[in-house]
Amino acid sequence: MLETRKLCKSFGAIDVTKSVSIKLERGERRVILGPNGAGKTTLFNQLVGELRPDSGEIHLAGEDVTALPVAARTRRGLSRSYQKNTLFDGLTVEENLSLAAAVATGHESSMWVDSLTRPDVREIVQEVANQVNLMPYLHAKVSAVSYGVRRQLEVGVALATRPLVLLMDEPTSGVGPEMSKGFHDLLNNLPRDLTLLIIEHDMDLAFDVADTITVLNYGEVVFDGEPEAARGSSLLKEIYLGSWEDA
Ligand SMILES: Nc1ncnc2c1ncn2[C@@H]1O[C@H](COP(=O)(O)OP(=O)(O)OP(=O)(O)O)[C@@H](O)[C@H]1O
Ligand SMILES: [Mg+2]
Repeated sequence: MLETRKLCKSFGAIDVTKSVSIKLERGERRVILGPNGAGKTTLFNQLVGELRPDSGEIHLAGEDVTALPVAARTRRGLSRSYQKNTLFDGLTVEENLSLAAAVATGHESSMWVDSLTRPDVREIVQEVANQVNLMPYLHAKVSAVSYGVRRQLEVGVALATRPLVLLMDEPTSGVGPEMSKGFHDLLNNLPRDLTLLIIEHDMDLAFDVADTITVLNYGEVVFDGEPEAARGSSLLKEIYLGSWEDA
């Protein structure tokens, strides 16, 4: 469903992505682990098309999308929730979801107030709000909801484009343990045919959600396999300097 072939990217003298080849099957849930600066976000930026790789290829659902711009990849089913905030604070939760759904249904050029009432848009908003537990907050202004709810909404906005593949960059960063647990449940309840690629620092989340794990270190894939095998790897223990004990 999503594949990179020998992807390379350098910033000046630093190789941030070193011949990265990963392959996700449809419905696979993959977590990317790796220390700060390992190149995780840079890899995402290339996958979604915000950054051009120096060499290598990216394939989405069997098609080479390496040269395609962001919007064209979104239309083909690749969606991303951001580490940074990309929500409209002055609008309600429902309006934020509606705008994303309007883009997905091809109505982004019409007046957004009209798009709110379109049946196809409303249907997506209801579906997504249920998936990410936002029903109680639909009419709240984004500026008025908690940080945790905002993070849920970021995933909701990404889901409202009806993706085949969803990329999430640290969806639980800054969220307390209680919300973090809620997030595990939320991810586990997403449709099984949705392919998930998640950057995550939280080991618990990684082991709870992942079918497979990829570990990046200095831009290189140093582990690719099942969570149980990752747990036993001494190389990974070294990279994480004992933080596995907490997992
Ligand atoms: N636009 C850029 N120009 C120059 N260097 C960059 C740029 N973007 C990222 N880097 C560098 O590339 C390296 C990888 O950064 P990246 O953000 O991909 O790491 P990360 O694994 O996502 O880290 P974190 O866990 O802290 O989010 C870092 O050394 C960073 O300073
Ligand atoms: Mg990052």
